[in-house]
Amino acid sequence: METQYKIAVVGLGLMGQSITSCILPSSSEVIAFDKNTTQNSIALNNIKNNLREQKNEGIIDEDPHSLLSKLTISHTIEKIRKCDIIIETISENIDQKIALLLQLENIVDSGALICSNTSAIPVSLLQKDMQFPERVFGLHWAEPAHITRFMEIICGDKSDSTHLSTLLNLAKKWEKEPSVLHKDIRGFIANRIMYAMLREAFFLVENGYATFESVDRSLRNDVGYWISFAGPFRFMDLTGIPAYLAVMKDLFPELNNSTKPPALMEKIVSEGALGIKNGKGFYTYSRESRQKWEELFTSFTYDIRKLTHKYSTEKIKQSSEKY
Ligand SMILES: NC(=O)c1ccc[n+]([C@@H]2O[C@H](COP(=O)([O-])OP(=O)(O)OC[C@H]3O[C@@H](n4cnc5c(N)ncnc54)[C@H](O)[C@@H]3O)[C@@H](O)[C@H]2O)c1
Repeated sequence: METQYKIAVVGLGLMGQSITSCILPSSSEVIAFDKNTTQNSIALNNIKNNLREQKNEGIIDEDPHSLLSKLTISHTIEKIRKCDIIIETISENIDQKIALLLQLENIVDSGALICSNTSAIPVSLLQKDMQFPERVFGLHWAEPAHITRFMEIICGDKSDSTHLSTLLNLAKKWEKEPSVLHKDIRGFIANRIMYAMLREAFFLVENGYATFESVDRSLRNDVGYWISFAGPFRFMDLTGIPAYLAVMKDLFPELNNSTKPPALMEKIVSEGALGIKNGKGFYTYSRESRQKWEELFTSFTYDIRKLTHKYSTEKIKQSSEKY
């Protein structure tokens, strides 16, 4: 029989809610905790909605009500004492994360794995002062975690890689296509590459080469067309490698390599732009268009999930997966 773990989710914000929705079907029990208890009823409501949506989309077979009976939202962190896997997903603040991890060590068993959903903090910094740092890993999810197939598993300097098989098995149960970082590096894989792309996108706009709209259209229809299918290395295989070398020689010296955030980004943030949240971003949004964009994004995310399933490398049983 398959092992079902008792899992704790600490932090019930945006990601804590979608992570809880993702792991409930394959866990024996989930205990969630947020230090802001006023968050609890909002979180429970959003988790219920996520489960209903997953059922409607055919991602889960179980009835959302029976899944919810496996969830406890606790008012005290001590309730997670007997959990096997702890997923920390509190705000992205290094001091707060370190303080929480030290607190967790005094609560859970020494055999429990402690995973952080940090977006970019090196795991080695998080585990540095811990008594049992070998059971600490990065477990990086993408929002909305109950739909996306992304997962990066990150080893810090002191993580014990023999635990990787447990985390890889869990990732597969959660229907992720996991990647492993054997060595810790700030930003991990996806964020390092995405931020390099963002830097170049700002460079083109700030220097008058193209508008936001043009940059968005180009990427959507070029990189956006193939990247969910192939990833950069497979894509170069598919389209012929030597041409990329020739372009690298000429283009790399001309790419932006600034170490500062773009001035345009500083300006728009100082003017109060939050994006779709308040309708002020690189584009402007009415109340109706905000809702429409959010709905479209959710249905697109479900469609991409289906496509990445349909075209997953496991289906072309030609080479075994390497992590
Ligand atoms: N939002 C995303 O798209 C995304 C994607 C990948 C990773 N992440 C990472 O996930 C983490 C959470 O992000 P989010 O968007 O859910 O943030 P959020 O602000 O929506 O939620 C954070 C929650 O943590 C709670 N919290 C803070 N300190 C706590 C503590 N000590 N104990 C218990 N609860 C505590 C807060 O009350 C809040 O409800 C961050 O590290 C973020 O970088 C976010």
